[in-house]
Amino acid sequence: MTTNNELIGRDEINDLEAILSVSNTDVDAVDHTVGAGFDAVFTWDYDRSRPALGKLYEKAKTSQWNVTTDLDWTTPVDQEALALNEMNREDVQFFGDQVDLSGTPFAKWGEKEWVELAIEGQNWTLSQFLHGEQGALLCTARIVETVPWIDAKYYAATQVVDEARHVEVFARYLDEKLSGHYPINAHLELLLDDILADSRWDMTYLGMQIMVEGLALAAFGFMHQMTTEPLLKQLLRYVMSDEARHVAFGVLSLQEYYKELTDAEMKDRQEFAFEAAVRMRDRFLQQEVWDRMGVPVKDALELVMADEGRKMFQNILFSKIVPNCKKLGLLDRNNGWLRSRFTELGVIQFEDWVDTGEEYTLLDEVAKDRAAAGA
Ligand SMILES: [Fe+2]
Ligand SMILES: [Fe+2]
Repeated sequence: MTTNNELIGRDEINDLEAILSVSNTDVDAVDHTVGAGFDAVFTWDYDRSRPALGKLYEKAKTSQWNVTTDLDWTTPVDQEALALNEMNREDVQFFGDQVDLSGTPFAKWGEKEWVELAIEGQNWTLSQFLHGEQGALLCTARIVETVPWIDAKYYAATQVVDEARHVEVFARYLDEKLSGHYPINAHLELLLDDILADSRWDMTYLGMQIMVEGLALAAFGFMHQMTTEPLLKQLLRYVMSDEARHVAFGVLSLQEYYKELTDAEMKDRQEFAFEAAVRMRDRFLQQEVWDRMGVPVKDALELVMADEGRKMFQNILFSKIVPNCKKLGLLDRNNGWLRSRFTELGVIQFEDWVDTGEEYTLLDEVAKDRAAAGA
């Protein structure tokens, strides 16, 4: 039996000291190399035998959009005004009412510090989206080479273009509209490295399309709903349209492939999904922001982790991942191994939420806008 320590480097999932001991120590690096040995696979079978992937590919070809011309970059963005505005909204307070801040560093905070936290939090969040998008770009380029099916190679090629566009859009938004970049969070980097270092083609899909992009779809959806900034709202709408296709690509491909796998092979996939889930939860603790705010990181995180409202927000990030894992048979194989882990993480309640196999047709905001403009 593989232990938590072997999978995630600690015995207790919530061991805060261990989580914080993982940090990015090379913040000035300009590049990062991941060694990988994998087979580049040609297929001589050009038959279009996978209609669901074919349909997805057709959708991808007509729903491309252009960062330069489809968004209004003249929109002024005042981060401070937006943060001040948020402070007066009940639904977006950082800590919930039940959290007692007396005796903590936050007790002395005034408007200035809370605004600064909101601004740093946004710079951090968008920076991590940016780095994650580059991870998606690299993973998807890999899939073009490694997946053995022609329909999947066609589709993956369109996703490469999508991910280049996503890197472009977040980089531009950060540069032109926000007030600072953060280097990649160490937990996110560990996860992306693990995905890229694995030579098995389906592991790239599981790590990226199912786990990272499943979480991104939920996170973008949440931010899209909360933000009042029109440019960010619009760019997230379009990015989400693409991401829904990407997650569907993962579900449709792995659904077929996993049918052939043995219990032992499925166990490897279950463990990988669990490791990815923990890394992603760890990254959302945004330890670098607390550091930059000059607050003792562990003290801040103890408060954050005790906050029921925030826990709910962090759990909702798994609302796409869990039903997709269920659909793929990952929850229940091997006596429900992953089901127990997801129960421990507190996210199993999403298992019967809608999965992302078909949702992309509903989320195609690009097509909706074009139809409205043409009408
Ligand atoms: Fe993306
Ligand atoms: Fe994506």
